[in-house]
Amino acid sequence: MNELVNLKNITLIYQSLDSETLALDNINLDVKNEEFVSIVGPSGCGKTTILSIITGLIKPTSGEVEVADKSPNPKDGVIGYMFQRDNLLPWRTIEKNILFGLELNKKLDKNRKNYALELAKKYGLKDFLKKHPAELSGGMRQRVALIRTLALKPRLLLLDEPFSALDYQTRLELCDDIYDIIKKEHKTAVLVTHDIQEAISMSDKIYVLTARPGRIKAIHKLDFDANLTPFERRKTDKAKQLFDVIWQEIQNEKQDKI
Ligand SMILES: Nc1ncnc2c1ncn2[C@@H]1O[C@H](COP(=O)(O)OP(=O)(O)OP(=O)(O)O)[C@@H](O)[C@H]1O
Ligand SMILES: [Mg+2]
Repeated sequence: MNELVNLKNITLIYQSLDSETLALDNINLDVKNEEFVSIVGPSGCGKTTILSIITGLIKPTSGEVEVADKSPNPKDGVIGYMFQRDNLLPWRTIEKNILFGLELNKKLDKNRKNYALELAKKYGLKDFLKKHPAELSGGMRQRVALIRTLALKPRLLLLDEPFSALDYQTRLELCDDIYDIIKKEHKTAVLVTHDIQEAISMSDKIYVLTARPGRIKAIHKLDFDANLTPFERRKTDKAKQLFDVIWQEIQNEKQDKI
């Protein structure tokens, strides 16, 4: 497995006119090809900032960022995103929403259009293509958002709390769906979440951050049976034990900083 992302000794200070905020302190993080990595930690510890650094949107104050940008096909994207809000355009049909990313990136040729629509059909959106976002449930809309991102053929998916706006039941179902799609399409993913169980249910590796400034508090490597779905994983004793460990790590952080 080769590395897709490598952050070395990253420090980030947010500067404003009258203050400086140390957001990240000495972060080392790596993501291997086809690995599923999660980042958990207290609110404001710098999780979203790490994703912005990986995308290049924010330059670190010090440290090195390496993101392998050699896709097998140079026309393919490197990084795709999925956020808490699906950001679908309400006036466009689902089909047109799925094709929107390609249009925006001037990549809408016949092959890519077919690829995007095949993905949509393969993953349960066939009967929704002519509908509008308002006619779909929140979970379904998030699935559309993922397919729209996958249409650009990114190697790496950055997921910033993509399930947190959904009700619990939908959230569990969507976790299974999204995990299945990511594995079948051989994608690499970095998930940011507040939900420890969610991280345990999907990841190969979990980074636990300290309260601000974010430092790496612990790294957990998970070795669940690859055939388990996220839902099945959650029910194992191993998942429950790991939950207790990570919960305590984050709890200690909160107490230390009060
Ligand atoms: N543009 C900015 N200017 C100044 N400070 C910022 C800026 N963006 C974020 N911060 C601060 O940096 C810290 C890290 O922010 P970040 O959004 O990365 O945290 P987070 O872990 O994603 O939080 P949450 O769990 O609430 O989403 C926070 O304390 C935040 O207030
Ligand atoms: Mg955030």
